[in-house]
Amino acid sequence: MRRLEVHTQTTHYEMVIGANLLKQISHFIAQLGLSPEGGCLIVSDDQVTALGYPDAILTAMQQAGWPAQLAVIPAGDESKSLLQTQALYTHLLQSRVRRSGVVIAVGGGVVGDLAGFAAATYLRGVHFVQVPTTLLAHDSSIGGKVGVNLPEGKNLIGAFYHPRLVLYDIDTLKTLTEREWRGGMAEVIKHAIIGNPQLFSQLQTTPQPTFGEPVTVEDMIAQASAVKIAIVQSDEREAGLRMHLNLGHTVGHAIEQASHYLLNHGESVALGLRIEAEIAVAKNWLEPVIRDQIIAVLRQHHLPVSPPNLNWEQVVAYLEVDKKHSGKGWTFVLPREIGRVEVTREITQNDVLNAWRASIA
Ligand SMILES: NC(=O)c1ccc[n+]([C@@H]2O[C@H](COP(=O)([O-])OP(=O)(O)OC[C@H]3O[C@@H](n4cnc5c(N)ncnc54)[C@H](O)[C@@H]3O)[C@@H](O)[C@H]2O)c1
Ligand SMILES: [Zn+2]
Repeated sequence: MRRLEVHTQTTHYEMVIGANLLKQISHFIAQLGLSPEGGCLIVSDDQVTALGYPDAILTAMQQAGWPAQLAVIPAGDESKSLLQTQALYTHLLQSRVRRSGVVIAVGGGVVGDLAGFAAATYLRGVHFVQVPTTLLAHDSSIGGKVGVNLPEGKNLIGAFYHPRLVLYDIDTLKTLTEREWRGGMAEVIKHAIIGNPQLFSQLQTTPQPTFGEPVTVEDMIAQASAVKIAIVQSDEREAGLRMHLNLGHTVGHAIEQASHYLLNHGESVALGLRIEAEIAVAKNWLEPVIRDQIIAVLRQHHLPVSPPNLNWEQVVAYLEVDKKHSGKGWTFVLPREIGRVEVTREITQNDVLNAWRASIA
């Protein structure tokens, strides 16, 4: 078991990573000083519920005396909506959750973002616990960004609201599809490039798909999460350094949208990492040999490195609306070396087009 501490200016909490943790959840929640009178709502999606993880938690909480209830949402990003938020408020009322009560999110980033937003706003905030069940959720379950989508765009409504605890039972990852696993690996690789050269070199030698040696899943998640935790601790509200976490995402988001979500988030981020590495090479910010290492690691983990045939005008249109732009050109986070990234505000459409062309196989 690995226990990581998150200390921000406003709060502190623990991320516990290990096997067979679901059944022990009431013990961890009791350690937070919470008691059953406040009530408890467990939130999950229908696919995760079919795998039995929320029920294991429901049983554990009820056995510990909590009047726990389960709310199930349809799986998929469409559930990150104000409509589903409203449905959760109704569940919270019906389950008699009070201000001292707790919302437990069991699932991937969709469940975590939605349930976290409901927890942040219901009665002006009830306690919140994250139980991530996807590899990608090592990213989304820490840092306190919660929220939902609007029809006009993703993640436009939200709050900074930290969980009281992140309980990451790695046994749940065994049921992920290979594609979901790969998507999560893109974020692991991103974190390694941003801040952990040792993890990066471990990923270079790790065989796939039987992830195990030389770095275990528990270890890998702990190392990747630690990169994010360090950044979130120094810049809780995304005033500066936290922007580094957008590596691969500026181009990645544009690709994800221009592909009409046929490419999933992780696949789009993998392409973003490649193309942004090409931009960095063209700017003389990155040694070509390091770019090649980045490409090799992405390939090693079966992630795409050459963009499919997408409508370039659309990619540009999505890059234009990126909310981070201010200044002369587009704002990008680019790699300088493994373990160091830097922000520039001077990237032009032409820079991206050249990098895009260089990435086509
Ligand atoms: N808050 C943040 O800081 C942050 C960061 C990154 C991403 N996100 C958000 O996270 C979301 C993506 O997260 P995600 O990829 O985890 O998506 P997800 O929650 O949709 O999960 C992906 C799919 O896997 C299924 N699933 C979940 N756990 C499973 C398991 N153990 N076994 C089998 N199937 C399982 C789900 O039912 C779903 O169909 C996006 O909405 C994104 O905006 C948020
Ligand atoms: Zn991401």
